Amino acid sequence: MEKTLVIIKPDAVKRGLIGEIIKRYEAKQLTITKMMMLTPSRDTLVKHYAEHEGKSFFENLLAFMMSGDVVVMTITGPNAVAQVRKINGATKFLDAEMGTIRGDYGVDITANLVHGADSTDSAKKEIDIWFGL
Ligand code: PPS
Repeated sequence: MEKTLVIIKPDAVKRGLIGEIIKRYEAKQLTITKMMMLTPSRDTLVKHYAEHEGKSFFENLLAFMMSGDVVVMTITGPNAVAQVRKINGATKFLDAEMGTIRGDYGVDITANLVHGADSTDSAKKEIDIWFGL
């Protein structure tokens, strides 16, 4: 069993896609084990995106993530990290295959609907940041 962290981003929440997105994870027999909805603070996002601090898109990304509510979840199941990233699709919507969340709904490089941790180590760190130890 593996655990990962997923964020349904403000664009997806505003577009009414929470149910559609969760349905895709559950269809692959992944289980939502924790879930909360909130507008994230800058402090939490600086921790979450620490590895990207200083990059050209950093401030833009933080402003977008603070622009509304997000849904933060832990998702548990076999190969949860890789499964979620496959379901999400490539980061850039034009590279994302149809049938993935970003391939089917993505129209913008910043507002790309979902975040999934990129490794089990990142997942552990991100779960601590969002849900505490
Ligand atoms: S990098 O530079 O290759 O490490 O970046 P990448 O892994 O592709 O993306 C890291 C996160 O930054 C977001 N991102 C952007 N946001 C806004 N504008 C631009 N241009 C941009 N490029 C990348 C990307 O969606 C990733 O966010 P998460 O939440 O992890 O999906």
